[in-house]
Amino acid sequence: MNTSTSIYQLESNVRSYCRDCDVVFATGRGATLTDVHGLSYVDFFAGAGSLNYGHNNPHLKKQLLAYIEQDGVTNTLDFHSDAKTRFIERFEQVILKPRGLHYKLQFTGPTGTNAVEAALKLARKATGRSTVAAFTHAFHGVSLGALAATANADKRGAGGVELSNVVRLPYDGFFGPDIDSADIIATLYSTAGSGYEKPAAIILETVQGEGGLNCASTHWLKRIEQLCKDLGALLIIDDIQAGCGRTGSFFSFEPAGISPDIVCLSKSISGYGLPMSLVLIKPEHDCWAPGEHNGTFRGSNPAFVTACAALDYWQDTRLQDTIGVYSRLIRTALETLVAQTSPGTAQVVGRGLFMGLKFSDPDTASRLVSACLEQGLLVETCGPQSEVLKLMPPLTIDAHTLTLGLEKLQQACLNVLCVPTPTATALRGIA
Ligand SMILES: Cc1ncc(COP(=O)(O)O)c(C=O)c1O
Repeated sequence: MNTSTSIYQLESNVRSYCRDCDVVFATGRGATLTDVHGLSYVDFFAGAGSLNYGHNNPHLKKQLLAYIEQDGVTNTLDFHSDAKTRFIERFEQVILKPRGLHYKLQFTGPTGTNAVEAALKLARKATGRSTVAAFTHAFHGVSLGALAATANADKRGAGGVELSNVVRLPYDGFFGPDIDSADIIATLYSTAGSGYEKPAAIILETVQGEGGLNCASTHWLKRIEQLCKDLGALLIIDDIQAGCGRTGSFFSFEPAGISPDIVCLSKSISGYGLPMSLVLIKPEHDCWAPGEHNGTFRGSNPAFVTACAALDYWQDTRLQDTIGVYSRLIRTALETLVAQTSPGTAQVVGRGLFMGLKFSDPDTASRLVSACLEQGLLVETCGPQSEVLKLMPPLTIDAHTLTLGLEKLQQACLNVLCVPTPTATALRGIA
């Protein structure tokens, strides 16, 4: 036990991650965390995707410290500020313009769930419709509006009220590889008397982070986009976890070539783990009245400063290229592990640096999390039964630390699944 008993007595029962990870973290640099006893951990969790540029990224930290040192304003709600202006201009210049995207920026309260609340409210207001369509295994947050769109039974159960005005649709692959769920969805909406009314919006994640690293195909995404157009519904992409480079491109929907009406960003948009959320709105849908969706912490300038500095990573393709290389390295390592287990035990899921192993026995992933921790590797599970071991290293991890983390994973698999000894040299060859 690292933590004193009094902490358990004082912190609410709602705590979760720390129940299986009794480590008291003290410092972090890049992809390495150190605890109060000086023990090091390779971080393949990255703050659930809020630390895509690593812990205390030196480039971001320098800008942040300089800003604080000069007494830059901290919270300005939605007053103008120098830091906010610089972020907006830079986001337009580095992210939107080169991609031919036209969005207005709405800063919401700094959690992902608040960005989703704003997106859903706006879609309802813009269309005059109340129902939103969301998907099986979706996760959009735990405040009531977002929770209604979330599929997870435990999270929904905690809502304590009826979660209404959302219909559930089958995600890509929900019925297996041979059935295109877009066919079913199209039929539901085109058949008279089906009971499916035109929704205000369809909200989806292109890769379902909490739902088990399920990936939507380009073909399916394009069909959902077209369906939204046919129905006069807005397409909302919740890129809170899959965005900011996690899947390889800044926005996860870029490879699909779709053009969402609204995009939700949070987690790594500030780049530094500082709370910040952003809703991107096609100008024609920006029908908010002033102050209609507000929040005290919409103007966190330290977050704007680091968010602006993080955009430097997207000025050229270097980070994107590295993510591609690392992604192939991880896939090879995971496929090697799967090949060493008996058929049907595990499969590789996800894409980019958003990959993992889905186990047929749901307990295996949790046992592996503990075994990884013993090796000094921080990982988490996802999926409706926590059956997926999810790997999310910082995008800026160096090749040596990435390989070290994969070796630790292999050693943990050796202990839990009895797969053969790690092929560390083979991994190094790939790195
Ligand atoms: C896709 C997605 N949407 C929304 C949220 C909610 O974000 P937050 O926990 O910051 O409210 C999350 C959090 O994991 C998420 O993964």
